[in-house]
Amino acid sequence: MNCIVTGSAGFIGFHVTKKLLEQGHRILGIDSVNDYYAVSLKHDRLKELGIKTDSLRYDEPAASGVFPQFQFVQFRIEEKDRLSNAVNNFIREHGAIDRIIHLAAQAGVRYSLQNPEAYISSNISGFLSILEICRSLRVPLVYASSSSVYGMNTRQPFSVHDRVDHPVSLYAATKRSNELMAHTYAHLFNIPVTGLRFFTVYGPWGRPDMAYYKFSLAISNGEPIDVYNNGEMRRDFTYIDDIVEGVIKAAGHIPSPAPTPCRIYNLGNNHSVELGFFIETLENALGKKAVKRYLPMQEGDVLSTEADIEDTRRDLGWTPHTDIAEGLTAFAQWFKEYKGT
Ligand SMILES: NC(=O)c1ccc[n+]([C@@H]2O[C@H](COP(=O)([O-])OP(=O)(O)OC[C@H]3O[C@@H](n4cnc5c(N)ncnc54)[C@H](O)[C@@H]3O)[C@@H](O)[C@H]2O)c1
Repeated sequence: MNCIVTGSAGFIGFHVTKKLLEQGHRILGIDSVNDYYAVSLKHDRLKELGIKTDSLRYDEPAASGVFPQFQFVQFRIEEKDRLSNAVNNFIREHGAIDRIIHLAAQAGVRYSLQNPEAYISSNISGFLSILEICRSLRVPLVYASSSSVYGMNTRQPFSVHDRVDHPVSLYAATKRSNELMAHTYAHLFNIPVTGLRFFTVYGPWGRPDMAYYKFSLAISNGEPIDVYNNGEMRRDFTYIDDIVEGVIKAAGHIPSPAPTPCRIYNLGNNHSVELGFFIETLENALGKKAVKRYLPMQEGDVLSTEADIEDTRRDLGWTPHTDIAEGLTAFAQWFKEYKGT
């Protein structure tokens, strides 16, 4: 396949790109490489994909020295002309695009309280640019949504058939908006679209703004970790390799046209874990005890998440395989090597 992967310098986009390249697909990776967290980590991921980051030029595609069928280009997806130029140049060189896998977004729940504009720009205007490309090229789209759309819902596990009308962060509201925008385009223009609600993804090359990464950093430096709501929170932590498999399965499964070629699936581990147990498992994986600082619940946070994955199993044949101890061991091993601790 010829694919576009947006967010390919990001955590999930990097892993999806790498797997698709290993499977022999041709990829155009797009990412603005923003500084929401360390740009050096995004550059290191790109280097793993064979991109020389010291000669990266905004808007100019760079070829990979490792994967001959990979090109990477840096710009913001809401820059519509840049997006269509990059896509058209790619098509001229390599032929039609088979799939767009859209993983670029302004991620993070808490940052949406500080910088709401970044979310509207990347996640709403940027998402519209992607939909417009799909519309003009008639390409099926797979895009990232989030478990955060379940917001104040209390019935667990969260099902894709539940109503999701009560988000508790602007981040969640943009992700829910994406689902509604995707439905509209699928209905009006008959474009197959698949939204994936990811549940707390973790693993090697992960995001420094997420709790497991912050905890690991603090634990290795002997600093206290912030444990919200006395650790009485549950999360359906999902390992990156399982997520990658789910994204690729979704890309291989075009939704049937009736009533609208639009589907949403949960990608979660289907087994929620208490934060306290998660920290204990991480301590074991890192071989070091945490110093804990207990704090009240944070704004925008939800108490518990657990995914109902019945539809995902049935339609995509996807089940997660990685338990928390196995996943955190792999993360800790990468973390120690990467940080040299
Ligand atoms: N990691 C998780 O636990 C999780 C959970 C739910 C949903 N998601 C969603 O999955 C997707 C991937 O998340 P991630 O964890 O890899 O995050 P990430 O921040 O590591 O990756 C996102 C990438 O998108 C890029 N980006 C942001 N705005 C852009 C723009 N306007 N134009 C071009 N590039 C832009 C960033 O530079 C970044 O490299 C996102 O849509 C995120 O909202 C992630």
